[in-house]
Amino acid sequence: MCVRVSLGSDDCCNDFGFFDLGFMMQKQEELILRHQAALIGNYGKLPVVFHRGQGSHLWDVNGKEYLDLFAGFGGTILGHCHPALVKAVTQQANTLWQVGNQFYTEPQIRLAEQLRSKAFAGQAFFCQSGAEAAEAAIKLARISAGPDRFKIISMHKSFHGRTMGALSATAGPAQQGFAPLVPGFTHVPFNDIAAVERAIDAQTAAVMVEPVQGEGGINMPNPGYLQALRALCDRTNVALIFDEVWVGLGRTGEYFGHQNFGVTPDIMTLGKALGGGLPVGAILARPERAAYFKPSTHGSTLGGNPICAAVAAAVLDELEKEQLPQRAKRLGAVAAVKLESFKNRAKIADIRGCGLFIGVELVAADALPVVQETLKHGLIINVTQKNVLRICPALTIEENDLLRGLESLDACLASI
Ligand SMILES: Cc1ncc(COP(=O)(O)O)c(C=O)c1O
Repeated sequence: MCVRVSLGSDDCCNDFGFFDLGFMMQKQEELILRHQAALIGNYGKLPVVFHRGQGSHLWDVNGKEYLDLFAGFGGTILGHCHPALVKAVTQQANTLWQVGNQFYTEPQIRLAEQLRSKAFAGQAFFCQSGAEAAEAAIKLARISAGPDRFKIISMHKSFHGRTMGALSATAGPAQQGFAPLVPGFTHVPFNDIAAVERAIDAQTAAVMVEPVQGEGGINMPNPGYLQALRALCDRTNVALIFDEVWVGLGRTGEYFGHQNFGVTPDIMTLGKALGGGLPVGAILARPERAAYFKPSTHGSTLGGNPICAAVAAAVLDELEKEQLPQRAKRLGAVAAVKLESFKNRAKIADIRGCGLFIGVELVAADALPVVQETLKHGLIINVTQKNVLRICPALTIEENDLLRGLESLDACLASI
């Protein structure tokens, strides 16, 4: 059976117009079965196979259209197939792929200079993921602190990645089953400055914190908390590491999360959005710390790869050209008003976040059915900490789409 499938408002962009629905249904199920047989089952999956994306719209292999309010865990900060990023990939892919870090390449230099100019006058190291950025930050904090200082203090409900060092900094269930973890990590409650003060001793090398916690439930720092951490670290000569893997690159309404609070770290980690959807991680470190990474202390074969670096540089160009941090701030305020309008009706316990980094905590203990229901209606959102819905769309999302998505969420909340 061949039918024309409506792809909604973006129908004119459809480049694969007709579907044999029977075949495609079969194809989706078949692909899922093949995936399950061939890949390790380490991810909780939703039953959709995506085929194509444009801006904040996605299409599955059946041609069903979805509105993307989660941007691939924050990776596609400019949406899918942004023309500037497609151009950057294409140009660089036709120019130079990879030479190894014993040589210099121009895209890395351009990207590092952009980070310095937008964040602080640090020096960059490039890798492929947020977890690797955490590893680099932990290693740099330890080597720059001297031989007797190795302890890292991080926060309850934190998330820094799945590699062993990053996992040791991460608090909570992600660690289960992987003992023994890396020694020297201590966890204290987020927003409790006295607890950090008690935990710091002569062996402490660093305090590591997300300026706004992401996986922990979009938890905002209390007023003065990050400033107090900065003062405490200065007083004790301990490195302050900000994990900006979620909150960097404009999402919170500033280029970097810490800029909302006027506090600059010694080391900042980046990932997710930096590559616009390609695997790019980075740290930016103050020069007096960065100097401790000498040849052979740390490295990554493909880190700063010319294609990834060129795309990341294009992400930063677009943030500036289209004033996307400001747009995130404005659209975040629009979303907050909309969510408030149905807060009581929809049994929402709390709405929090900044910019387009929004957490909606439900009164109900389990929000997974909501995510499943919205998906049926073509809306992609996410849940963390069991009952906190996360709304983190691309910063380029059309205001109408954002509002339409929130109306659809309202309807889904009412229906279950
Ligand atoms: C704050 C934070 N840091 C680090 C990571 C790890 O990033 P990746 O999954 O790219 O290794 C994540 C992933 O969600 C994160 O949220």
